[in-house]
Amino acid sequence: MPRAYVFTRNGGPEAEAFADVPRPVPGPGQVLIAVRATGVNPADWKRRAGLRGPGEPEPRFPVVFGREAAGVVAEVGEGVSGFAVGDEVFGHPVGGSYADYAVLPADGAARKPAGVSWAAAATLPVAAATAYDGIVQLALPEGATLLVNGIGGGVGTAAAQIARHRGLRVVGTASAGKKDFVESLGAVHAESGPGVADRIRAAAPDGVDAVFDLVGGESLREVAEVLTDRSRLISGADRAVVAELGGAAVLRERTSAVLEAVAALVAEGALDPYVTATFPFAEADKALRAVEEGHTRGKIVLEIDGAGPV
Ligand SMILES: NC(=O)c1ccc[n+]([C@@H]2O[C@H](COP(=O)([O-])OP(=O)(O)OC[C@H]3O[C@@H](n4cnc5c(N)ncnc54)[C@H](OP(=O)(O)O)[C@@H]3O)[C@@H](O)[C@H]2O)c1
Repeated sequence: MPRAYVFTRNGGPEAEAFADVPRPVPGPGQVLIAVRATGVNPADWKRRAGLRGPGEPEPRFPVVFGREAAGVVAEVGEGVSGFAVGDEVFGHPVGGSYADYAVLPADGAARKPAGVSWAAAATLPVAAATAYDGIVQLALPEGATLLVNGIGGGVGTAAAQIARHRGLRVVGTASAGKKDFVESLGAVHAESGPGVADRIRAAAPDGVDAVFDLVGGESLREVAEVLTDRSRLISGADRAVVAELGGAAVLRERTSAVLEAVAALVAEGALDPYVTATFPFAEADKALRAVEEGHTRGKIVLEIDGAGPV
């Protein structure tokens, strides 16, 4: 039986378990993949904890963890023309991805370029694509200054690189220990924590043209002080507070075109997903705990090798 890592109810880590699950069947417009790697995201533990985004349906337990995957096409659903069995792909799963098999909608999947590793590809649908969507949404002119609040995590690291690639100046907030890492991304570091707005002003004496927030809450309220034009305030982390401050949530595309665009950036060396730790599938709990602590650097990935022959 294929395996999956699931949560059996809303709660803490004690609600997590491995389960034997039937091999999923791809519906019309979908492909089934044998999963090789899946990215670990804050949304995974948040869903287990019972935090749901607007419009997200009540969970039907057990719920398979995971919102992004890379793997080999094992079956093709009706009406799919762009993919064939054996293709190496990645995308946005429906029904989870901490599993031997996952189902991807063909219009939310893309081919993995040959030079991009399984682990790297598995991080692109959530972190890199969110960063890409946010930067496109802000539509800043070359030379503008972008503040990335929470630059050290998966989305922030990708946002910094995509912004630099588009000719933007980047200032990023992160804890003191990440200063060198932030600078290695081509960004100016501003230490996070109370008083951060003053440190941002010191780091960007000519001002900040836009804010891409990835922290939310009080931190978002404080960094928003540096921006007068709130139409250039976006958040991937806190819909309620960003709306209250006159900004907007990141508008997610979740299309093959965006996946192709971020994969091309990785293939050409303009975007490093910074996979800083990989865990075997059997250690899914450890991977989740690492992300749940809230101070990861770059991305954490689960490697899944148990699906056997395609
Ligand atoms: N809307 C969407 O589609 C979407 C998609 C992806 C992610 N998200 C959300 O966006 C947020 C970030 O996701 P992620 O994947 O980048 O998370 P992550 O990889 O877990 O990174 C979070 C980062 O936030 C930093 N941080 C924590 N408190 C901070 C503070 N007060 N100031 C500055 N940095 C702080 C941490 O580093 P330090 O060590 O520097 O504190 C850590 O590097 C999460 O809330 C996630 O749920 C939304």
